[in-house]
Amino acid sequence: MQLEGKNAIVTGGGRNIGRAISIALANKGVNVAINFHKNDKKAQETVEKLEEIGVKSLKIQADVRNFDQVKNMTNRVKKSLGGIDILVNNAGISGQNSTIEKINIEEWKNVIEVNLNGVFNCCKAVEAELRKNKGKVVNISSIAGKMGGSIGCHYAASKAGVIGLTFRLATELAPQVTVNAIAPGPVDTELLSPEIKKKLSGLTPFGRIAKPEEIAHTVVYLLENDYVSGEVIDVNAARYMD
Ligand SMILES: NC(=O)c1ccc[n+]([C@@H]2O[C@H](COP(=O)([O-])OP(=O)(O)OC[C@H]3O[C@@H](n4cnc5c(N)ncnc54)[C@H](OP(=O)(O)O)[C@@H]3O)[C@@H](O)[C@H]2O)c1
Repeated sequence: MQLEGKNAIVTGGGRNIGRAISIALANKGVNVAINFHKNDKKAQETVEKLEEIGVKSLKIQADVRNFDQVKNMTNRVKKSLGGIDILVNNAGISGQNSTIEKINIEEWKNVIEVNLNGVFNCCKAVEAELRKNKGKVVNISSIAGKMGGSIGCHYAASKAGVIGLTFRLATELAPQVTVNAIAPGPVDTELLSPEIKKKLSGLTPFGRIAKPEEIAHTVVYLLENDYVSGEVIDVNAARYMD
C-alpha cells in the first residue's frame, strides 16, 4: 500500500510505542487520529508533533473497552479525515500483579477487556470501512502471548488471544484487508519498571531492550506490504535463540 495520503487510527497513540508508531506513519505522509484514554496532554503533544511533520492529526478520547465509545470515535475520524484505511491496535495495559495467587478476577477481567476485547471492538467498528478501502490492521501483541513472559497470566492470555484474533480475521477479511500482529520483546517504555527493564536487557543476546521506534518500523513494513497477512512478526533481537 502506498501510505501517503492514507488515514489511520492508532489506539493509545499519544505516548511511548503508540507515539512512535504515529510519528513513523506521519513521516510516510499518513494522517493519524490519536486515540487516548486518560492522557490528554500526551495525546495533544503527539498531535502537535504530527502537524509539524505536515499531516492532518486529531486526538480522540475513547476507552477501547467500550464499543459505543469506539464506534463514536471511528465515526468522528471518518468525518474529520474522510475515511479510514489503517487501524493500529496498540492500546494495552499490564495489570498490577504478576502471579495467579495475587491476581483477582477484577484485575484479570480488566486486562482481558483492554488488551483483547479492545482489539475486537476496534476491528468490529472499522471492518466494513477497511474492506471498502482495501485497508490494513496491525495488532500489537507481545512475546508474552507466545511464551508466557513475566508480567502475568492475564497479560499473556490477552496477548495470545490477540494472535488468535489476528489469524481468524486475516482469513475473514481477505482479500480486501491484511491483518497482522507484532510480538515485541521488552520495549523501553513506562509499561515496564526500571528493575524489570534491567533484568530483561540481560536476557537478549543484544544486551538491550527495544526502542519504541523499532516497533514502529515494523508496523510501517506491514502496512506497505500487500501480501503479508495472518503473520505474527517477532521483534526481539534473537531472544528465542539464546
Ligand atoms: N513496553 C513493552 O515492553 C511492550 C512489549 C510488548 C508489547 N507491548 C505492547 O505495546 C503496546 C503499547 O505499550 P507501551 O509500552 O507503549 O504502553 P504504555 O506506555 O503503558 O501506553 C499504553 C497506551 O495504551 C493506552 N490505553 C490504556 N488503556 C486504554 C483504554 N482502556 N482505552 C484506550 N487506550 C488505552 C494508554 O492511553 P492513555 O495514556 O491515554 O491512558 C497509552 O497510550 C501495548 O499493547 C503493550 O502491551 C509493550
